[in-house]
Amino acid sequence: MNKHIQSQTKQQYSSSFCEKDKTGWHATVLTLFPTMFPGPLGLSLAGKALNSGIWNLKTLDIRNFAPNKSRSVDDYPFGGGSGMVMRPDVVDTALEAVADRPGPRLYPSPRGAIFDQSWAKILAKEPGAVIFCGRYEGLDERVIKARKLKEVSIGDFVLSGGEPAALIIMDALIRLLPGVLRTTTALTEESFENGLLEYPLYTHPRNWNGIIVPEILTSGDHAKVKAWKRLEAESITRKRRPDLWKQYMKNKDK
Ligand code: ADE
Repeated sequence: MNKHIQSQTKQQYSSSFCEKDKTGWHATVLTLFPTMFPGPLGLSLAGKALNSGIWNLKTLDIRNFAPNKSRSVDDYPFGGGSGMVMRPDVVDTALEAVADRPGPRLYPSPRGAIFDQSWAKILAKEPGAVIFCGRYEGLDERVIKARKLKEVSIGDFVLSGGEPAALIIMDALIRLLPGVLRTTTALTEESFENGLLEYPLYTHPRNWNGIIVPEILTSGDHAKVKAWKRLEAESITRKRRPDLWKQYMKNKDK
């Protein structure tokens, strides 16, 4: 197993965060489905970064913190309603077990503030994050408040659990960690930098099925290319994302 991945066994109820682990960005994931991690983050750029210790992963199975023999982590909602609710005592004990793991406590939920690039940047500057993946209808409100969990949504739709959201959040911030991408221009020229979507991209062949790459891109005139990219980025943003465009124009006037 990758030495940068720790997966909790049945007996391990407490975190084993220790001095020798204190390098890289620390991802701590509490989930009912530990085998979902690192999942796609074990491949490609994030996977290489995991292997090289730029980030490390500890997953804990929430079910191991259930107080009863039946190992149930959920119960019926007071006041009725559909579905089940994750018990506050179970959630609290699980979070206590990772009290020494660094970073903000995140709870992916459709009720959360919308995750975006600026949030990814903030998280990448933290030493790590603890992500609690809920299932069923969600967590008991008292433990969300008591543990000051920061609710984070990846969009206005409902997933069947927090795990895919956790993977997306981690993906977005891992690629921002120093040493993950080969060039830093990849970061400064992508969508949402300077508040715009990215300009269109072209590669070889120059003539594909009779469609020619915009001539300016093969002109060798760097100033003109730069101006073209800016204009294209502005045009796409104006057409596709009026919300971003409005904000961009506001900032431009300042
Ligand atoms: N869990 C369920 N739906 C979600 C969403 N849209 N974002 C984050 N976590 C979720």
